[in-house]
Amino acid sequence: MSRKLRWGVLGAAGIAVKKVIPGMRQSRLCEVAAIASRDPEKAAAAAAQLDIPAYYGSYEAMLKDPDIDVIYNPLPNHLHVPWSIKALEAGKHVLCEKPLGLSSEEIRSLIAVRNRTGLQAGEAFMVKTHPQWVRVKDLVDSGQLGRLRAVECWFSYDNRDPQNVRNVAEYGGGGLMDIGCYPIFIARLLFGEEPVRAKGALEFDPVFKTDRLASAVLEFPSGHCAFTCSTQIAPAQRVVAICEQARIEVEIPFNAPPERACRIFVDPGSDLAGGSRQEETFPACDQYGIQADEFTRAVLGEREVPVPLENSLGTMAVIEQLRAGA
Ligand SMILES: NC(=O)c1ccc[n+]([C@@H]2O[C@H](COP(=O)([O-])OP(=O)(O)OC[C@H]3O[C@@H](n4cnc5c(N)ncnc54)[C@H](OP(=O)(O)O)[C@@H]3O)[C@@H](O)[C@H]2O)c1
Repeated sequence: MSRKLRWGVLGAAGIAVKKVIPGMRQSRLCEVAAIASRDPEKAAAAAAQLDIPAYYGSYEAMLKDPDIDVIYNPLPNHLHVPWSIKALEAGKHVLCEKPLGLSSEEIRSLIAVRNRTGLQAGEAFMVKTHPQWVRVKDLVDSGQLGRLRAVECWFSYDNRDPQNVRNVAEYGGGGLMDIGCYPIFIARLLFGEEPVRAKGALEFDPVFKTDRLASAVLEFPSGHCAFTCSTQIAPAQRVVAICEQARIEVEIPFNAPPERACRIFVDPGSDLAGGSRQEETFPACDQYGIQADEFTRAVLGEREVPVPLENSLGTMAVIEQLRAGA
């Protein structure tokens, strides 16, 4: 295909307007051709601000646009599967934000529609294609640090706004769904396995009824992952992957900033004060732009979908186990 693939954005969501669309502006393979909002004025303002040629005052209207090839779905979690299904039924490929659905059953219903329509669909775990994670995965898989045995993660922020979609239980809010999904995804990626057991402790906000502090241990055939995530403590994020001969630390594992280089550290631990630590840097890049290009390549048949829906089922299965156990 000689022209760029034309993407339409479903909703003037914060993540779309602040991160994903700006990241896609550098894309070689695709362009944001339209944005839709429930509010026409909001759609017009976002289109003007981000130099998007077309806007729509309803999601349905954009799905009818025959010139749109791919839909990016950054709606609140409870609308991920319903609107991704509508987009597929309208003949569009779909990249949908994480977490893909509210339950495994819901994700299976999306898989059925993808299979019937023959279109491409994937979950927007942008970390998967960031060069720092491609490198960490390669390092682990190479075996040069010995076998991976443990993954330690934390991810937190402080957001007590009752209007925020993360704090609305019926929208699929809560820390586990919003950010706990990242450690689960990363541990499954690095081990290359599914956990055989997952146990955790969840503390719920008494008003929002969403989990505000969650800690879990995932037992994989090859090792363990432990993580804590929270929506009501100081912002922090880190991943440490511990192999038999060295540990790998990812400094900014999830919200890698586009304007500065990222770092990972590989440390055999022979000097506990950090003297044996080796640093690797990755030139500044935009993980959302890379994500859009890689998904576009999948649509063009040049690669597999970076995070296919079957993978999303694995993440959801862990969330469901942790909820059931708590
Ligand atoms: N991958 C990442 O780095 C990342 C980062 C942040 C968030 N996310 C994901 O992106 C999604 C959106 O998060 P966000 O922070 O961007 O949320 P947000 O700013 O609240 O945006 C959600 C958008 O959904 C639309 N919407 C439709 N029905 C709605 C309803 N009943 N209530 C609220 N909004 C509704 C609204 O667009 P209109 O008013 O224009 O129709 C709204 O702007 C979530 O699934 C989240 O997990 C991913």
